[in-house]
Amino acid sequence: MDNSAELVALREEYCAHGLRRVDLDPDPFKQFGVWFTAAIEAGVRDVNAMTLATVSPGGQPTGRVVLLKGYSHDGFIFYTNYHSEKGHHLEKNPRAGLVILWKELERQIRIDGIAEKLSRDECLRYFHSRPVGSQLGAWVSHQSEVIDARRVLDARMAELTERFAGQEIPLPPYWGGYRVKPDRFEFWQGRPNRLHDRFRYTRESESWRLERLAP
Ligand SMILES: Cc1cc2nc3c(=O)[nH]c(=O)nc-3n(C[C@H](O)[C@H](O)[C@H](O)COP(=O)(O)O)c2cc1C
Repeated sequence: MDNSAELVALREEYCAHGLRRVDLDPDPFKQFGVWFTAAIEAGVRDVNAMTLATVSPGGQPTGRVVLLKGYSHDGFIFYTNYHSEKGHHLEKNPRAGLVILWKELERQIRIDGIAEKLSRDECLRYFHSRPVGSQLGAWVSHQSEVIDARRVLDARMAELTERFAGQEIPLPPYWGGYRVKPDRFEFWQGRPNRLHDRFRYTRESESWRLERLAP
């Protein structure tokens, strides 16, 4: 199967907005907030979906999509299974990369930093805010482990639904959140002729250095 000719012919011109240094807040967290709000207002689908990149102990990078569930000056939060592949990677090497694409706005944001586990209280609060089915799902799935068949999940779901009937579902000990504390951001705005606008913020103790990058 070779569809490279088709892919080569795919071209999109990016011309919705420009990005100048004066448009950017000196605080990258505030700048993130401005773009996030704009993405919500523009009705971007899956606005909080982002690619999380981690590195295996052998040095193999890999990415997968997770949902952004909160952000503040402390960092960017997502929830997962600590025993998953990403969990094992972060245990050995907490460096993580996040990428958010808002295609409708021709915008991409990259965030690199260190992932740390949230407190048990924070995890508990979020866990119990989820629909009951999702809470049960966290017990049912040993995320990233090999399983024989779909029916293994269905059987475990039936068993756990019965076991936890009529009671608050406890937080699984292996389930919780991470907060990625950034030391670098990049804001990317698509422009015509592939001459996109890119600005990088790099942490310098208490402030951030802001630089324009070639596209
Ligand atoms: C739109 C979307 C949102 C997702 N959100 C999450 C999430 O918030 N947390 C999570 O653990 N997995 C989420 N996943 C599943 C992950 O992409 C991935 O399959 C799973 O976390 C296992 O990854 P790992 O084996 O690399 O640890 C999401 C997938 C998609 C497509």
